[in-house]
Amino acid sequence: MNFMVKGRRVLIGITGGIAAYKVCEVISSLAKAGAEVRGILTKSAEKFITPLTVTTLCRHPVYTDESFWGRESGKPLHIELGEWAEVFVIAPLTANTLAKLEWGIADNLLTSTVLASTMPILLVPAMNTDMWEQPTVQRNWQQIFKICSRYHGISPDIGVLACDRLGVGRMAEPSEILAYTESLLYTDGKRDLIGKKVLISAGGTREYIDPARFIGNPSTGKMGIAVARAAAHRGAEVTLVHAALENGVMTFLDNVKTIAVTSAEQMRQTMLEYHADADITVMAAAVADVKPAEYSTEKLPKKTLGASLPLVPVPDILAELGERKQPHQILVGFAAQTGDIVSPARQKLFEKKLDIIVANPIDQPNSGFGSDTNQVIFADAIGRKVTLPLASKLHVAHHLFDFIRTTIFTGKE
Ligand code: CTP
Repeated sequence: MNFMVKGRRVLIGITGGIAAYKVCEVISSLAKAGAEVRGILTKSAEKFITPLTVTTLCRHPVYTDESFWGRESGKPLHIELGEWAEVFVIAPLTANTLAKLEWGIADNLLTSTVLASTMPILLVPAMNTDMWEQPTVQRNWQQIFKICSRYHGISPDIGVLACDRLGVGRMAEPSEILAYTESLLYTDGKRDLIGKKVLISAGGTREYIDPARFIGNPSTGKMGIAVARAAAHRGAEVTLVHAALENGVMTFLDNVKTIAVTSAEQMRQTMLEYHADADITVMAAAVADVKPAEYSTEKLPKKTLGASLPLVPVPDILAELGERKQPHQILVGFAAQTGDIVSPARQKLFEKKLDIIVANPIDQPNSGFGSDTNQVIFADAIGRKVTLPLASKLHVAHHLFDFIRTTIFTGKE
């Protein structure tokens, strides 16, 4: 359920780079999640991983240039694969294959399959920093998205590369590739948020008592990060303000401006600053309701703690955004609830002057804090209500943007 890809058809093209070994994890996760996966290896990819590896992980014979003239259904293989796949992920993508794709060259099974198809394609480059920074490579990388909207991409990250350099060129993490693949299967590659500025908060704020202790909450940030990913995958300009996140939840998020904060007050100031410019604001963070009346710069002895810990309220950021909201802006809140989730969520919707509230049970298995899935209800200010089945948080985020778009079309713009 982590990735909602069951029964979906994903083609993985692997070109010659050391990051090929990391793609094995992508194939394995897709197959375990019930996707049908087929692999194509270029000749140079075969130097890095064996056809047997990919065959075993796909649970299906891999295709190489030797299979080019083979036919499974009477059609040429590149046409058959092009018709079969719903999404084509090319990872790692070398500078060489990028150049071929940019110029429309088809000289092997992988590039011929690209030309003989129309499905969305996810390009995930990996290479040495000097190669990546070549003006020719950069030009190809910029141009390919302008020439053809079916191409999506995840830029390489900074890291220590196999050539021992620290620089840009490291392939995106398997979790990012899997999330983008899941998005493309959901959206069929549509970028319906192009031109929209989306502001999102994620994670749990921390109100420090002294340098060693804080008042916090169990939020891991998974829901807010899923909303940021979904918005970025649909073409929005995304700003993510995140408080404490669970370790490893956020890898490099391509096309997302990330701002780290700790306390509710820091989150408040950052959200107020960016909100003025945002078309859509989604407040997915779990913000503290109270904080210690005073912060002690010295660690307090434990015997002094039990006696009294005076607390003061924290301003409600969402309510403040609701007061400032302009008519063209959409404001979405989350309501973490136990028991009856709809009535208190509706009350928050009206009290905080929101357009949409996501009622989120936190007392159910597989929902709420820390879970990879969520089971939510959307309600809006014009009385509509949609109950979603249990879904991955990325799917919930995409459904939310679909719901937001219907709100925009019913009178916000
Ligand atoms: N929120 C906020 N600032 C706060 C507290 C909450 O912006 N100080 C936002 C949350 O990000 C969420 C929404 O308000 O989008 C609802 O938060 P929730 O914790 O469910 O409810 P509260 O309003 O805090 O009320 P209660 O704890 O009484 O349920």
